[in-house]
Amino acid sequence: MLEIKNLAVEVEGSPILKDINLHIKPGEIVALFGPNGSGKTTLLMAIMGYDKYKITSGQIIFKGQNITNMDINERVKLGIGMMFQRPPVVKGVTVKDLIHMAGELEGDYTQLSDRLNADAFLNRYLNDGFSGGEIKRSELLQLLSLQSDLLLLDEPESGVDVENVELIGRTINDMLHENLLVEENGLTRKQRHNKRKRAGLVITHTGHILDYVNADRAVVFIDGHIVCKGNPGEVLNIIKSNGFEECKKCDQKI
Ligand SMILES: Nc1ncnc2c1ncn2[C@@H]1O[C@H](COP(=O)(O)OP(=O)(O)OP(=O)(O)O)[C@@H](O)[C@H]1O
Ligand SMILES: [Mg+2]
Repeated sequence: MLEIKNLAVEVEGSPILKDINLHIKPGEIVALFGPNGSGKTTLLMAIMGYDKYKITSGQIIFKGQNITNMDINERVKLGIGMMFQRPPVVKGVTVKDLIHMAGELEGDYTQLSDRLNADAFLNRYLNDGFSGGEIKRSELLQLLSLQSDLLLLDEPESGVDVENVELIGRTINDMLHENLLVEENGLTRKQRHNKRKRAGLVITHTGHILDYVNADRAVVFIDGHIVCKGNPGEVLNIIKSNGFEECKKCDQKI
């Protein structure tokens, strides 16, 4: 589904990512670990196509198409969606407006909204005064409405209480694995018949989201490089007990 080849990315003239190679197959979920400032968000932004994140070499291939120079809206239409670490406040646009304008959902989305306890903020301006947990639930509702095939999840559990981590985690898992929400919620016939195999790239520091979202593999970023790969649970345990320095020793570049 996604193939990143020898990718280098610059932000405001500074080289951030160097020689990144990463493949994600349909149905596969990859966890991305790494210290603050190591370039995790930069990678997701570059995949999404924000022009501030300048690709200086390499390629991004999505579903067989070279999207390296494609506009964001075209990437979204092809099936890439993102849950942002720190989404902007957009005054004048409510969450509901955005779901209606950008989303693929037709008609009733109350079940989705109920499931994510989104009623309280559905009619408020996007992220305006939202609590940390509300921001993440709103992001997830928007992502659900896009029905993307590749989900880029930037710290979906950060700032979220334990009960909401479970709610967000289970909802993401349903999206990734079974497409249950599409079945349940009376969406378009085309979508109901479309059994897409979604894939995900999930950034997490704590790994709490992985209690609900079963990642297949993990990669570790340090200083803009992938330094290590492995089983998500094992890699996380190594980081927790010995720090990121231990990951450097692994040095299994992919
Ligand atoms: N607009 C920008 N201008 C200058 N430097 C930037 C900009 N955006 C990102 N960077 C720098 O790029 C580096 C990587 O940032 P990035 O946000 O990708 O890290 P991260 O791995 O997601 O960290 P965190 O775990 O803290 O979210 C950082 O040093 C950051 O300051
Ligand atoms: Mg980040």
